[in-house]
Amino acid sequence: MSATIRFPEIRTELPGPNAKRILEGDRQYVSPSYTRSFPLVIERGWGAMIEDVDGNVFLDCNAGVAVCATGHAHPKVVDAISRQASQFIHFAAADYYYPQLVQLGEKLQAATPGKHEKRVHFGNSGAEAVEAAVKIAKYATRREKFIGFYGAFHGRTLGALSFTASKAAQRRGFGRQLLDVTHIPYAHCKRCAYGQQVETCHVECLSVIEDVLFKTTVPPEEVAAIVVEPVLGEGGYIVPPRKFFDQLNYLRDKYGILIIADEVQSGMGRTGRMFACEHFDFVPDIITIAKGIASGLPLSATVARSELMSWHAGAHASTFGGNPVAIAASLATFELLETGLLKNCQLMGDYFIAGLRGLREKFPKHLGDVRGLGLMIGAEIVEGSSSGRANVKLRDKILLECFRRGLVILGCGESALRFSPPLVIDRDQIDCALGILDESMSAAISS
Ligand SMILES: Cc1ncc(COP(=O)(O)O)c(C=O)c1O
Repeated sequence: MSATIRFPEIRTELPGPNAKRILEGDRQYVSPSYTRSFPLVIERGWGAMIEDVDGNVFLDCNAGVAVCATGHAHPKVVDAISRQASQFIHFAAADYYYPQLVQLGEKLQAATPGKHEKRVHFGNSGAEAVEAAVKIAKYATRREKFIGFYGAFHGRTLGALSFTASKAAQRRGFGRQLLDVTHIPYAHCKRCAYGQQVETCHVECLSVIEDVLFKTTVPPEEVAAIVVEPVLGEGGYIVPPRKFFDQLNYLRDKYGILIIADEVQSGMGRTGRMFACEHFDFVPDIITIAKGIASGLPLSATVARSELMSWHAGAHASTFGGNPVAIAASLATFELLETGLLKNCQLMGDYFIAGLRGLREKFPKHLGDVRGLGLMIGAEIVEGSSSGRANVKLRDKILLECFRRGLVILGCGESALRFSPPLVIDRDQIDCALGILDESMSAAISS
């Protein structure tokens, strides 16, 4: 198949014969804990396109869950990976030195919000970045308690799971949580848990901390950190108002509570700025980064104020964290973001959001709130009216109909469609995605 194809081409029934064989093997050998929405078995990708094992070509509006920021197999990323792999592939950053760590450390110092001095701990996944952030916060403050948000996703390792509050399935069967985390509703202004309007509210979603938690179950002097996604990811691609961040600053300044911004999903250009915090001029104490950081190679970073990351040798490390091949991919990713993809993400994000809002006119009873920043876009599927109840069944049908027509998207939140394409996507491809969505919604509604 030619890597110049820019639009979907479905050639077999789905799944095709080769895919069917692999699905059988998957059922036999692979953990059933993975959550697959449809039977897509990928063979290769280029730009915003992917091809399955039967030669069907799909338009990818998910990017391996917001990871392949620079598109599939970007030649500059592939080149950086192969050059580094031909030098050395691994040498345990925890025990030895190599220049790549310093290069990426310096890059992250400059690229993350705030001009203060920072240090970086390297890991391999988002959950690991969160684990490191939480350990840093505990170590630096010698406090034990944390505050997190309903709807949040921070990973599934046992420490991160204490913060994750997105779906009951993520906790079911695992008993009591490891860490002392109190969850509160996120700033979901269109569906405010306190029944307020954003124009007139007093940020009840955060003032509840001072007004209720601190007076009852959570003494402020025992709180190490608030862990927050600056744009809620898995929980529905929800963008909080600026005053949410002002209130976080207030809590930090008054009580010495650290703010950990989990930018695992929203970071690395996904929202049209390098980090989502920049949209709100918000400077966190610790920031966690993964997913898009290395265009698909496993790498994560926990970036903290230098004075916070003052733990002793041996306090934390990982054998593979800061792998030099992944760092080479990361440095190439930064370069691509800075030389065009951030700009493309802003432009294409606005275009995509406008297109989705346009579709609301055709589906006023089923397409609700369309929200997002850059190419991190959510569109709620609802019942009856644009502010109606979540319609999970219809959302899942739409995902399947899109897949059958060659558009790959996932869901997020209770019933939202999630659009997180590679940042290389262009206008024609977005038009194509909107056309497929239009058809798929009609088909799903009438079935
Ligand atoms: C905001 C956020 N934090 C943490 C994680 C966990 O990352 P990983 O799956 O790489 O452990 C995710 C994954 O979706 C995420 O979206």
